[in-house]
Amino acid sequence: MFDRIYRAGVLGVAGRKPVEHLVRSRAWSVAKRFVAGEEMDTAIAAVKELAADGVLGNLDLLGEFVNSPETANVFAGQVLALQARAAEAGVRPYVSVKLSSVGQGMTIDGPGSTAGTDLGLSNARRIVGRARELGGHVCLDMEDHSRVDVTLQQFRTLLSEFGAEHVGTVLQSYLYRSEADRNGLDDLRPSLRIVKGAYLEPESVAMPAKSDVDAAYRRLVYSHLKAGNYTNIATHDPLIIDDVKMFVLSHDIPKSRFEFQMLYGIRRDLQKKLAAEGFTVRAYIPYGRDWYAYFSRRIAERPANVMFVLRGMLKG
Ligand code: FDA
Repeated sequence: MFDRIYRAGVLGVAGRKPVEHLVRSRAWSVAKRFVAGEEMDTAIAAVKELAADGVLGNLDLLGEFVNSPETANVFAGQVLALQARAAEAGVRPYVSVKLSSVGQGMTIDGPGSTAGTDLGLSNARRIVGRARELGGHVCLDMEDHSRVDVTLQQFRTLLSEFGAEHVGTVLQSYLYRSEADRNGLDDLRPSLRIVKGAYLEPESVAMPAKSDVDAAYRRLVYSHLKAGNYTNIATHDPLIIDDVKMFVLSHDIPKSRFEFQMLYGIRRDLQKKLAAEGFTVRAYIPYGRDWYAYFSRRIAERPANVMFVLRGMLKG
């Protein structure tokens, strides 16, 4: 309950324009702990740096709730450019995309056979198509609960067109519906990233108690692993990570069927340690000028982070 109140407080304050303005102008020195940089090349350099520790990268161009088809198309173009640049630099173009940022919910109109198609789906097709050409992968991030139905529906379409090697998505354990969603996707053998969930959601759709979210997290991971599907275990929770290690050992699940994923700047020590133990580990590496919403969610996850921000801002 405290977690929810804290999260609501931080995200509520962070959503105010004067606060955003102040944090954007004063807190970059703090934000850069969680964000690799504002430019594409700094993010690619971060992937190479992590590779020295045996950790793989998942590149994420930040940008959310893009509100016009033109900006959505520009954003999609930037993701396509990122994929190409990564491949040129010898980095596998493994990227994450929020469908809202490429036009989900906007309709393509005008003449032509694509009229009426969702712009997010059409742009995602281009991005996943490019991933297939370049031997890459695209994970469709999961946003707030109002987008889950449409994201899963578009994921099904893309998966049937491009295959699980090139496209995956995310389920959030705080949502009551996620267990049924996972069961419903099983026949497609999908690659899923399991997370706890980072948005402020009403109690009608999301579990308010952290202990329930953690228990649901374990259930989702275990059932996806048991079904033999590729599982991306995206958490920094050391207790859950230890339990998963025991689970795979006792169920003879090979290391090639799952990976651990963590966020850039969080528990790098643990990322390195797991990689040294022979597990596949991937860090989610966000970059771009639109870092504020992502940064606010990271602060809302952990009370100690507020002090970290305030101290950083006072230092300037
Ligand atoms: P939990 O919150 O219980 O934290 C466990 C421990 O991790 C903490 O005690 C602390 O040590 C450390 N930790 C966690 N968060 C921290 C922070 N912000 N700063 C410092 N330390 C921290 N969510 C979503 O809704 N949609 C999505 O698509 C994704 N995608 C995604 C990808 C990847 C690779 C990861 C790791 C996470 C996401 N998330 C996400 C975010 C996710 O939902 C969740 O909010 C965070 O991972 C924090 O939850 P933990 O599982 O780490 O556990």
